Amino acid sequence: KISMPQSQVEPARLADGIWHKARIAPAGNPDQVIIDGAMVVRDGLIAWIGSEAELPDEFRQAGLAGLAYHDAGNRWITPGLIDCHTHLVYGGNRADEFAMRLAGASYEEIARSGGGIVSTVRATRLADEDSLFRQSARRLEALLAEGVTTIEIKSGYGLDLHTERKMLRVARRLDASYPVTVYTTFLGAHALPPEYQGRADDYIRLVCDQMLPALHAEGLIDAVDVFCENIGFSVAQSEQVFIAAGKLGLPVKMHAEQLSNIGATQLAARYKALSVDHLEHLNEADVVEMQQNGTVAVLLPGAYYFIRETKQPPLELLRRYRIPVAISTDSNPGTSPSTSLLLMLNMSCTLFRMTVAEALMGVSANAALALGKADRHGLLAAGRAADFVLWSVESLAELAYWSGLNPCSAIVRGGRFSTV
Ligand code: NIG
Ligand code: FE
Repeated sequence: KISMPQSQVEPARLADGIWHKARIAPAGNPDQVIIDGAMVVRDGLIAWIGSEAELPDEFRQAGLAGLAYHDAGNRWITPGLIDCHTHLVYGGNRADEFAMRLAGASYEEIARSGGGIVSTVRATRLADEDSLFRQSARRLEALLAEGVTTIEIKSGYGLDLHTERKMLRVARRLDASYPVTVYTTFLGAHALPPEYQGRADDYIRLVCDQMLPALHAEGLIDAVDVFCENIGFSVAQSEQVFIAAGKLGLPVKMHAEQLSNIGATQLAARYKALSVDHLEHLNEADVVEMQQNGTVAVLLPGAYYFIRETKQPPLELLRRYRIPVAISTDSNPGTSPSTSLLLMLNMSCTLFRMTVAEALMGVSANAALALGKADRHGLLAAGRAADFVLWSVESLAELAYWSGLNPCSAIVRGGRFSTV
């Protein structure tokens, strides 16, 4: 069990000192590791990292003078994991819809008949802020227990100013209450709210002219996302949202090529999107555009699995053009009711045939890139925040190998222990 919200208990124990007898993968990449590694943690930061034999004298002396030693027992250390695409904050769940899909209805059919995203919108509008916080906190706790220290959370189940604000406030409150860094994404253009039926352009105007500027002014938005799809918003409507985001200096990203290809990635890349996400229907022209604009691919094997998609994202193309690939839970009630990033590692290997190294980079260095925060997360280096995880495994491949076993044995975030 992860520690309760930090504000309600005394501050977590400091992890300051010399971590040694560790095997360290500083960028999460199992092909670039430090065997016999050591890491000095001081004041929330990594003061030094390298092979223990090269530990500078000043730290050796500090060790003799009483600076704590933490024996890692030859366990592995990676950066804290990053879940770069989630819809973690929402009311209710959609287990009933799951049963309908098992009886033969498709995700699109359910969405078109007034279920899907819109049914979660109803539940989210009804939940008050405290209830929404509690419902979301237990999902966050599950993610954190597996070593997640950074997470992105989207709005998009409010679709009106009041409820989008409520969702983003809950996301900020989770950041303040738990040992995790939350980046918020405004996804007002996730679905058409029932009251705007037949008036999608009017709704997009509301998103661009009112919701976005107001929530940005309240400091609630770190990035802007759009669901560009036949059952979502058109390329032209998505572009309006990107233009509005650009005016406020906010980075953009896109739910793209999930169910069909209507040109979402092309548009997103031209607007220098941080990432395009899902991508089962991505083609080569899209990948070329991504490469030219430095757009990261985010693959979501949990959604692929849960809606029993059969079209695979084109991994070979992404490799050929050297596109950084991130992996995420897409944690949401409709297409990926999952709170396990480790299971996503497993699925990205078994379902998408990613290598273990690709999968691990996908939840560390490449996930940081997808958030536009590679300068702050996904790498253990001197001067960086001490956000790392100690794993009780023989080899890092085990992180993608087990399903259900949690080999996480300690989490340090901002230089303090998160108790698991
Ligand atoms: O990432 N594709 C759109 N949004 C979510 C699903 C949302 C829902 O069904 O509630 C996704 O798959
Ligand atoms: Fe999503």
